Amino acid sequence: MQKRPILVIDDEEIIRKTLSIHLTKGNYSVIQSAGGSGIFDELKNNNYELVISDIRMPEVNGLQILEYVKKNYDDIPVLILTGLMDLNITIDAMKMGAFDFLIKPITKEHLLNTVQNALHNRDLLIQNKKLERENMEYRTLLEKKVEMRTDELNNKTIELENAYETLQKMNFQMVKVLAEAIEAKDKYTRGHCDRMRFTCLKIGELLSISEEEKTDLEFAALLHDLGKIGIADSILNKIDALSEKEFNMIKEHSLIGEKIISEISSFKNVSKIIKHHHENYDGTGYPDGLKDGQIPLLSRIIAVADVFDALTSNRPYRKSLSTENAITEIKNISGTKLDPTIVQHLINNRGHFHKNSDT
Ligand SMILES: [Fe+2]
Repeated sequence: MQKRPILVIDDEEIIRKTLSIHLTKGNYSVIQSAGGSGIFDELKNNNYELVISDIRMPEVNGLQILEYVKKNYDDIPVLILTGLMDLNITIDAMKMGAFDFLIKPITKEHLLNTVQNALHNRDLLIQNKKLERENMEYRTLLEKKVEMRTDELNNKTIELENAYETLQKMNFQMVKVLAEAIEAKDKYTRGHCDRMRFTCLKIGELLSISEEEKTDLEFAALLHDLGKIGIADSILNKIDALSEKEFNMIKEHSLIGEKIISEISSFKNVSKIIKHHHENYDGTGYPDGLKDGQIPLLSRIIAVADVFDALTSNRPYRKSLSTENAITEIKNISGTKLDPTIVQHLINNRGHFHKNSDT
């Protein structure tokens, strides 16, 4: 095993030699120095693991040597050689970072014990630094990995959001196509679906419905009469009064619409809204005769918008009403056919609906 090198600095040759003999017997390799102005070069150029330095020396004293070593090689321990009279300076040396002090005359046993402790402490410090460095490297590596994973996840999230947006757009386009198919069945309701969409969303906004509800409402407004594609044109476009049987057939459109839409799994809510868009607030509507809070809110919105649009649009059997006249009509059925709270919102904000519904 390689001997560990120790630098011994003392201006008195006899002390250097004594220490050197003891340390050599203790199986250390010793470099001797008398100190003086060249000591800093010696400290720089020699290879050693421990410094033993006298305090009182001409030109450069032990405290200056200690300061230099601590500043430049902080893992090399320094032992201070001192006399009993130099106790205050020794305390200063300890405060400056000396590992320990050796009071002259020095015994071999005490010297070797102290040196062993100092080198053991140095080994621990080096080991500790190595572990800290490895720990730091590991943390940096881990942080990089986390950062990479976070970036990956963010990219995936963006991809998913884009895919969802595309899907929503496709849904909307599909719904628009269906809405146009409904309108094509009934020449008198051209533009009805688009106006319904506008009026329903405006009312939904006034009622502070959630974003999810807005999407459902938008689709339901466009598709509420989808079931009419299952009703004969001769009945749908009949100008004369409908027989009870014919009226019952028309009523079927709520359930037909619900059935078609419920085939699309993401449109479950929409199909339910469509099913109940002809329920009356007092329970006299169809298909289930639900009343007030039993009727889904979005279906109640569609019911109000549907009546408002029918009144303010031209029909084969009458001209369109003005907004004010339509509102008078609507007031008459508020609380019976229509939800009075929603009607009130429509009345309070009639300016928003007038322009669009008369186009
Ligand atoms: Fe309808």
